[in-house]
Amino acid sequence: MTSQIASARAHTNIALIKYWGKKDQQLMLPMNGSLSLTLDHFYTDTTVEFNSIYTEDTFYLDQKKIETTKITPFLDLVRQMNPQAGFARIYSSNHVPNAAGLASSASAFAALALAASTAAGLNLTRRELSRLARRGSGSATRSIYGGFVEWQPGTSDLDSYAIPIDEKVDWDIEMLAVIIDRQQKKISSRTGMQRVVTTSPYYPAWITSTNQDLSAAIQAVKEHNLQLLGQLAESNALRMHALNLSARPPFSYFEPASLVAMEIIEKLRSEGICCYYTLDAGPNVKVICSKAESPQIIRALSTAFTPEQIVEAFPGPGVKLIEC
Ligand code: PMV
Repeated sequence: MTSQIASARAHTNIALIKYWGKKDQQLMLPMNGSLSLTLDHFYTDTTVEFNSIYTEDTFYLDQKKIETTKITPFLDLVRQMNPQAGFARIYSSNHVPNAAGLASSASAFAALALAASTAAGLNLTRRELSRLARRGSGSATRSIYGGFVEWQPGTSDLDSYAIPIDEKVDWDIEMLAVIIDRQQKKISSRTGMQRVVTTSPYYPAWITSTNQDLSAAIQAVKEHNLQLLGQLAESNALRMHALNLSARPPFSYFEPASLVAMEIIEKLRSEGICCYYTLDAGPNVKVICSKAESPQIIRALSTAFTPEQIVEAFPGPGVKLIEC
């Protein structure tokens, strides 16, 4: 192999039923299944070039050279599949409005999985790509597909992958991201989730109830039942954050402004508007609602947040190859 190059685009996803804990840290096997919505607004473009003249991997993110500590072990998995693939140069750009501090590892590793495997001459199926992306970041497993996606936890590397539930979402659902903090997380998701697995007395109850939430949420997607999906998502997110409060030592991702956004959504709901929130390993609040009612919700959020802090996103597509 001399030089081989490929570029891919992947969109981020937000979990409605969360993954929060691994049963195998090396293979990245989750404790439970999860369900997400891939979003159109936030994506990563990545180009990978394997070249026999390179003597090490090099990684540029938004034109800045970055350490390859997370990238090289991931590329090693691709090199195991094609030992002729040598070192690589990787160029990534994150298209997240104003560096919004939203999860970018999902789109990053999904784009890297497709670009790197294609540049290495491998023609992986979407299922194989999902398994590969999983090794970079759990949530990346789901960003291979568009729309609503389930990650089936599996019991080994072979059967832990995502499947599409509703790829071409043709019903009225959107997400509003309320950007509260653009900083790095205080506690990484890796550290946070392992702490709850090992120290929260509530962890077994989380697994049982999340498995029930997952079946009910998949049914709600199939029935286009926004209200039920929203109720399940909000309650599941709060249970995830309750695990964090019940860990030793306890921790929380909430900021005062997160609670302000949550209260606005709860008040709107008491006035009859169908809207629900979810939060991941950070303070930003994502609101699940319909396109029909989003103008009212944006107006209410605007009493506490600037227009730049409120970003509207719709269901987005799965990973695809793009022009280099
Ligand atoms: O993708 P990771 O390993 O950083 O974990 C992300 C975990 C959550 O975003 C909090 C939940 C999820 O299912 O995406």
